Amino acid sequence: MFLEAGLLTRRSVRQFESGKKISRADIEDILKIAMYAPSARNCQSWEFIVIDDDTLKNKIAEVHPYAKFLKDASIAILVCGNIKEECDSGYWVVDTSAATENLLLAVHGKGLGACWCGVYPNENRMKDISEILNLPDYLKPNGLIVIGYPKSFPSQPKDRFKVEKIHYNGFSR
Ligand SMILES: Cc1cc2nc3c(=O)[nH]c(=O)nc-3n(C[C@H](O)[C@H](O)[C@H](O)COP(=O)(O)O)c2cc1C
Repeated sequence: MFLEAGLLTRRSVRQFESGKKISRADIEDILKIAMYAPSARNCQSWEFIVIDDDTLKNKIAEVHPYAKFLKDASIAILVCGNIKEECDSGYWVVDTSAATENLLLAVHGKGLGACWCGVYPNENRMKDISEILNLPDYLKPNGLIVIGYPKSFPSQPKDRFKVEKIHYNGFSR
């Protein structure tokens, strides 16, 4: 099935062809798919900060210890929770995580590559990146999604299906 094939072949991409642009139409297609994710009580408590400015990319790469490859990527999208819009306290984390997975799959579907670089719950990373981007207090960064044209595609994932992770009617091991 086509859908299943797409879902099973997504990998994190960390090597990009530098200097290549992603069109605004592609960025908005990707974000449209992100916004179709489920969210608690359909509150859609997310905001997406698109970063294509080289100075900002470099500043973020300096403060994020595991996103140095952002320097070569075309863009990053910081997926943020808007705590003014979440329906119940703390739901921004799950709403934005659901949107992020949709986003990653949309990128993959376009033949681009992406890597989710964790920001939440690391308080230093949240603070440093919020300061660089001048975010208001009510926006909480969850993940920094680095996106670009893959230099090479990572190998296919090893089989991750583990039947022992499935428990019917309770947990047993
Ligand atoms: C919450 C979260 C944080 C992550 N943070 C980083 C990161 O900071 N840097 C990085 O290179 N990869 C990061 N990753 C990517 C994971 O390392 C990757 O998803 C995992 O190794 C599985 O590989 P795959 O995405 O290719 O299937 C993160 C993934 C998640 C879900």
